[in-house]
Amino acid sequence: MRILAIESTCDETGAAVVADGRRVLSNVVASQVELHAKYRGVVPEIASRAHIENILPVVREACGAAACGLADVDAIAVAHRPGLIGSLLVGVTAAKSLAWALGKPLIGVDHVHAHLYSVMLEDVAKPQAAAPVFPAVGLVCSGGHTALYELRDWLDVRLIGTTIDDAVGEAYDKVAALLGLGYPGGPILDKLATKGDPRAVEFPRSLLGKESLDFSFSGLKTAVLYRVYGVPGRGARPSTAGGPPAMSEGELADVAASFQAACVDVITRKLRRAAKVVGAKGVIIGGGVSANRGLREAMKTFGLPVYVPALEYCTDNAAMSGGLAHVYAERGIVSALDLDAVPYSQFVAG
Ligand code: KG4
Ligand code: ZN
Repeated sequence: MRILAIESTCDETGAAVVADGRRVLSNVVASQVELHAKYRGVVPEIASRAHIENILPVVREACGAAACGLADVDAIAVAHRPGLIGSLLVGVTAAKSLAWALGKPLIGVDHVHAHLYSVMLEDVAKPQAAAPVFPAVGLVCSGGHTALYELRDWLDVRLIGTTIDDAVGEAYDKVAALLGLGYPGGPILDKLATKGDPRAVEFPRSLLGKESLDFSFSGLKTAVLYRVYGVPGRGARPSTAGGPPAMSEGELADVAASFQAACVDVITRKLRRAAKVVGAKGVIIGGGVSANRGLREAMKTFGLPVYVPALEYCTDNAAMSGGLAHVYAERGIVSALDLDAVPYSQFVAG
């Protein structure tokens, strides 16, 4: 079964053709990073306008690269939640129109759920060896989400913890902005961290309650702010107006490495707690931050099998939705043509 999938939840316009839920025949992503870089974050109106311009060329390119005509696909999938509503509407409308015009089934999936499923996609260079064994603990860590899940099956997924403030990717992006580095900050800080000392600065690890499976990254972000710009006087806030004070390459790398160490430490400790609660036989990690070198390295000694996506499927893409939609299709679950774009995540089938 071949599924054409569409992604437009945030700032990447994607289309992919996926065979049998794992084999990616094509995966096209039109990135809007350059459009948003000067604002150091995604501007929703700019994103939805760019999706409108990109969506049909991206679908055409995905079909071309897969050597697959629209008539040859068996279903149309779309990530219809969660995301920016204007962005979601573009992908959902395109998917509904294609499904209706071609007379093919439509399958709406949850984007966060698809990030978890991304570990199932085969990498051309290094095919994923084994599928995860359930029960598993899942972590989606990205620019918009940092959440833990209990998975008993690909369609039996329960939220067990989430961030109470910033997502970890958001913290990376904001810290990179504080340090006067580019956008998105994750890959930049990750690279810089390899040159620094992770013990140079003792940044706080916010674990919340003893049993808590929730995350908080805003304190860590503020600690970096104070470290770089100085602690403000009573009532005053540190001014970031003039940009960061001059720092040597070494100091910058030490801050990056120490920040990364704090993030990775918190994530691995929460995963350990969650794995115990779930009685997990494995750990599934997806989302943009799953590309992080420090996190991948730390997970090598976790003690349970760890499943991470191939690098090209960590950040937003349509292939992961095409794969997950196959699971729905196999179980006879399809969406109606009045499928809505929904800004929040919900773990119910269809
Ligand atoms: O999954 P994604 O493309 O979009 C969302 O659904 O949010 O994730 C993007 C996020 C950004 O915040 C980016 O800075 C972060 O993932 N990211 C990383 C790395 N690569 C991307 N964070 C840390 N280390 C990385 N190597
Ligand atoms: Zn995402």
